[in-house]
Amino acid sequence: MKELSQRLQTLPASMTLAVNDKAKAMQAAGADVIALAGGDPDFDTPEHIVAAAVAALAAGHTHYPAPMIGILPALEAVAAKMERENDIPVPDPRRQIILTPGGKWGLYLALSAVLNPGDEVLILEPHWVSYPSMVTLAGGIPVAVSLPAEDNFQVTAERLQARVTPRTKAIMVNNPCNPTGRVLTSEEVEAIAAVALAADLYVIADEIYEKLVFDGRRHLSIAALPHMAERTLTVMGLTKSYAMTGWRLGWLVAAPDIIRLATRMNSQTVSCAATFTMHACVAALNGPQENIATMRDAYQRRRDFMVQALNDIKGIKCRSIEGAFYLFPRFTHSQRNSLELADALLDKARIAAVPGIAFGRSGEGHVRFAISTAQHDLERAVARLAKVAHEL
Ligand SMILES: Cc1ncc(COP(=O)(O)O)c(C=O)c1O
Repeated sequence: MKELSQRLQTLPASMTLAVNDKAKAMQAAGADVIALAGGDPDFDTPEHIVAAAVAALAAGHTHYPAPMIGILPALEAVAAKMERENDIPVPDPRRQIILTPGGKWGLYLALSAVLNPGDEVLILEPHWVSYPSMVTLAGGIPVAVSLPAEDNFQVTAERLQARVTPRTKAIMVNNPCNPTGRVLTSEEVEAIAAVALAADLYVIADEIYEKLVFDGRRHLSIAALPHMAERTLTVMGLTKSYAMTGWRLGWLVAAPDIIRLATRMNSQTVSCAATFTMHACVAALNGPQENIATMRDAYQRRRDFMVQALNDIKGIKCRSIEGAFYLFPRFTHSQRNSLELADALLDKARIAAVPGIAFGRSGEGHVRFAISTAQHDLERAVARLAKVAHEL
């Protein structure tokens, strides 16, 4: 047989999935593993959204959507939401929005629309696991901008500027951030915009966790800053905020020229998002939002519980988070690297966590715990950690 794809064979496998696979195998063998590795809310999708999807299916909306980028009521709902909540003007929804099967595909479309072979993309590190591979697959070169933990992973213009070259094409920004839980301050967002404007860069703004911000904070969208709308490709979706991971519905908002290319790419690959999820999207965005606040408040309470409980354990240090639903603690007395730590956590405490190195070199020394997990399991996890922390 002839050789399989070199491009895919050299693509690193997702470490998150590797931990999940090992945890699942242990669970299948009867072990009581507490899963803190994934990022899937333990809440169910709000009922009125499910009802809208069921009604759409019953009414025969089982065909390709028209237009393929998204049914008009969904495009209009997204445009109104972007203007209402994010201060991002979307005067022409039919030419500035494309609905995507999940936020992840929105990110890949965004990269595909702006990159030429060899273009460099700045990635703030620690970064979400998929960014470097997505950039590589889209023909670009990922360039890490290392944000030190000692400085609370702060983004500064100097740190970005130091990595800009004539080949730099775009900056990828995840705000709120998976895995650090940081929510960017207005100074940080302005620093990113200043570097992008000065070096003529696109910004790919992954704002999938925009609604999960705590303590009364307000999420700031980069595209809302002066002169940024035309160079920012904003990706959002229903996945995390509305507890809809399995539905696969997100969107990309950008300038018409970019959406035209993204539409062309969709037409030759996935075609479109599923029609019934677009109807659910209208219900989600235009319907009651109380459930979203209830879920966010629950994550905030879990954060308060976990941060306190982890810091009470000798040898663990955990900074509080401002958004998203991940904690990124360090095991200060451990001699192990983060891969060995994650392995030891699984073996000794039956806790599945993601090693910090999965998020790039500046994630080393940390592990990531998802607090989208039920409170009961979080309590069991800290009880186990308290028992084994000295062995880690
Ligand atoms: C930072 C970040 N961006 C994008 C996504 C993708 O979300 P979706 O499930 O909508 O594709 C995730 C999912 O975990 C994420 O953590």
